[in-house]
Amino acid sequence: MENSEGELVGFSGLEAIHWQARNAFVWYFLGKEHWEKGYATEALALMCRFAFENMNLIKLHTIVYEPNKASIRVLEKNGFKLVGRFRKHFYIPGHGYVDGLAYELLREEWQE
Ligand SMILES: CC(C)(COP(=O)(O)OP(=O)(O)OC[C@H]1O[C@@H](n2cnc3c(N)ncnc32)[C@H](O)[C@@H]1OP(=O)(O)O)[C@@H](O)C(=O)NCCC(=O)NCCS
Repeated sequence: MENSEGELVGFSGLEAIHWQARNAFVWYFLGKEHWEKGYATEALALMCRFAFENMNLIKLHTIVYEPNKASIRVLEKNGFKLVGRFRKHFYIPGHGYVDGLAYELLREEWQE
């Protein structure tokens, strides 16, 4: 992803696209020097619009490390809902085993 100056600030994408079930996994990350400027929130909003309006999907989903409060905030600002917890699902050096939180956004929730 690029900012308005055309500078590369991070990457994001949709993968594991299931065309029959009409859902996909969404992900994003930014270079540390670009954090806290609203870029991830905006990038996720654009991906939601593209997924629901252009790709005709009905749901996006993702999984986030529980300690990643900034990413959780980005998801919740975009209307994603917490739907589950994978216990001790990831190993992060310095944190140890952490839970993974499953988030989803349905198209009808996004439209509201
Ligand atoms: C997580 C990440 C994508 C956030 O990107 P960003 O562009 O800084 O996010 P935004 O600026 O759009 O929004 C961040 C929000 O989190 C909040 N936040 C930041 N740190 C926080 C913390 N420790 N606790 C609670 N909220 C926090 C910010 O205040 C902001 O919310 P606000 O707009 O209500 O103030 C970025 O930090 C990153 O790339 N991290 C490494 C990779 C990663 O974790 N990817 C996601 C994997 S699920």
